[in-house]
Amino acid sequence: MKDLTELARALREATHVCVLTGSGISAESGVPTFRDAQQGLWARHEPTDLATPEAFARDPDTVWQWYRWRRRLVAEAEPNPGHHALAELASWHGNLALITQNVDGLHQRAGHPDVIEFHGNIHRNLCHREGKPVTVDDDTERPPTCPQCGAPVRPGVVWFGESIPQKALDAALDAAGSCELFIAIGTSATVYPAAGLAEIARDNGRSVVEINPDATPMSDHADLILRAPAGEALSALLQAIKD
Ligand code: OAD
Repeated sequence: MKDLTELARALREATHVCVLTGSGISAESGVPTFRDAQQGLWARHEPTDLATPEAFARDPDTVWQWYRWRRRLVAEAEPNPGHHALAELASWHGNLALITQNVDGLHQRAGHPDVIEFHGNIHRNLCHREGKPVTVDDDTERPPTCPQCGAPVRPGVVWFGESIPQKALDAALDAAGSCELFIAIGTSATVYPAAGLAEIARDNGRSVVEINPDATPMSDHADLILRAPAGEALSALLQAIKD
C-alpha cells in the first residue's frame, strides 16, 4: 500500500474529514455485501425486489422475513478490525464525520460516536403509516402491528425509491461540503444520493480517497486509492498515524 504514508499525512493535515462507508467494511465481519447478500433460501430473490415499499405492499411477510434473517445475521456478527480502527482514528482526529450506508450498527458497536445513518438502522422499526419509531417484538414471522395505531410495522431502513431521513441528509451534506478530505470505504458508489457525496467534495476541490479491493465508478476520479480490504487498510493507516 504505497499511498498509505500519503494518506496518513493528509489525515494529519485535514481539519475536517468526511468518511463514507458501505457494506464492504462489514464484509470481514461475515456480513455479505448488499449485492452479495442473497444466500441459501434467499438466493432466488434480488435485493432490489425486496428492499422497496412496493415489495412490502405486495408481500409484507416475505419482506419482513428477509429483514428478520438479516437482523439475526448482523446480531451474530462482531465489529472487525476495520470498524475498530476507524473508531480509533475518529477519536484521535477529533473532527472526522462518519456517514454510513450500512444498517447493521457495527460502527456503533465498535464505539464510533455520532454515526450518520444514511439508510437507517435494521435494529429499529417504524410504524408503516406514520413513520414513527416503535418498540415491538420483531422476531416474528409476520410484521407486528403498531402499538398506537394498529398499522403494520416495517424495518427502520431506507428502501429504494425512498427519501433519506432529513436529519441524516443535512448532516451528510454538511460534512461532505465542509471537509478537506473525503474517504470512501467499501462502497460500490452506485447508489445515489450517497454516491454523490464524494462528488460534492471533489467539486469543491477537496481530496477524494477510495479504500476498496475492487475498482468502482469512483476510482477514475479518486486522488488516492488503497486497493485492499478495509480491515487491513484501516489497521495499517492507524499504525502509520501512531508511528
Ligand atoms: P455494495 O454491495 O454495492 O458494494 C460493496 C463494495 O464493497 C464493493 O465495491 C466491493 O468491492 C467492496 N468490498 C468488498 N469487500 C470489501 C472489503 N473487505 N473491504 C472493503 N471493501 C470491500 O454495497 P454499498 O456500496 O454499501 O441501499 O451499497 C450501497 C447501498 O446500495 C446500500 O446501502 C443499499 C444498496 O442498495 C439501500 O438499501 C437503499
